[in-house]
Amino acid sequence: MSQKISKKHLFFTEKLLEWNRLYNNRKMPWKFEKDPYKIWISEIILQQTRVEQGTMYYNNFIKMFPNIIKLASASDAEVYKVWEGLGYYSRCRNLIATAKFIANEMRGVFPKSYDEILSLKGIGPYTAAAISSFAFNLPYAVVDGNVMRVLSRFFGISTSIDSNEGKKTFNELANLLLDKKQPAIYNQAIMDFGATVCKPQLPLCNQCNLASNCFSYKKNKVNEYPVKEKKLIKKERWFYYFIVRQKDSVWIRRREKKDIWQNLYEFVLLEKLTKLNVNEIIKSDEIQQTIGKSFTIKNIGEYYRQQLTHQTIHALFIEIEIKKTPIPEEYFAVKTAELEKLSFPKIIKDYIQKNTLPPSIK
Ligand code: ADE
Repeated sequence: MSQKISKKHLFFTEKLLEWNRLYNNRKMPWKFEKDPYKIWISEIILQQTRVEQGTMYYNNFIKMFPNIIKLASASDAEVYKVWEGLGYYSRCRNLIATAKFIANEMRGVFPKSYDEILSLKGIGPYTAAAISSFAFNLPYAVVDGNVMRVLSRFFGISTSIDSNEGKKTFNELANLLLDKKQPAIYNQAIMDFGATVCKPQLPLCNQCNLASNCFSYKKNKVNEYPVKEKKLIKKERWFYYFIVRQKDSVWIRRREKKDIWQNLYEFVLLEKLTKLNVNEIIKSDEIQQTIGKSFTIKNIGEYYRQQLTHQTIHALFIEIEIKKTPIPEEYFAVKTAELEKLSFPKIIKDYIQKNTLPPSIK
């Protein structure tokens, strides 16, 4: 159902643009960028990553792969190496696939319409709106968590932002508010406003030039918006990693399954849903079948922890040395000096950096 534009809608757009003109001093390397390739890279990086961390990765990525042809012709390993530590590796897999698709099927030219952009792998409505508006000034409003927070507070919308109804409501409202004459400026303004003024925690309401008309501010309910339906249930996973050393090599494998860290490398893994003690780990059938019974434990570290959106990973690293055990099928041995060329999940990289593995492993 389409809504009519009210005075409150006009106030919002006008005051947001005023804020942008007078007070927005946020600087980011992709701001005012018009190259759809660079905008695409920045938006994919920023999907699950804070701007401070994302900026470093963005600059490195663009330096290594300054255009779509460079990205499409790089090896997967080169691209994963630049992505290493950013997490959500399916983003990287989709970037590679889409770069190759545009290079091979579209003569290297980034598509220029919203629908074509939306049809690309790894690009949803948010990213399609961002690329269409920033690069081509097309009138599509961006709607992400920041935008929904701003709109739910200002208009007092209690529909859950994670429900289908909520997505539809916020999308319609965002497109009603969008300044169709300057969609790029408007979209960047609302994102910057959400990130710096109407922040998730401790929003700067007493400096906000929209406060006089803001529903949640006037009712003293800013912290009650946005409303979320689902509480995240976090799964706990316990990863017992055996760093199996044989002379100057260690055993590793590539994670192939549809799970976290797909395409990254790891050591010999025993995964459990509960915490075990070292004896239980070493005596487990799986470990005895993979590395046998005759090995020497060289080092057992502390637990490492990594928080992902839906799960908490606990990892314990156990360094062992073996003599003659044959290597199991899915693993292969690499020289420790070669390890730095491969991409590992952050938790493994952290361990490697902090511990006394042979110097060449670092
Ligand atoms: N988060 C996602 N995209 C962004 C952008 N273009 N500017 C600032 N923050 C963002």
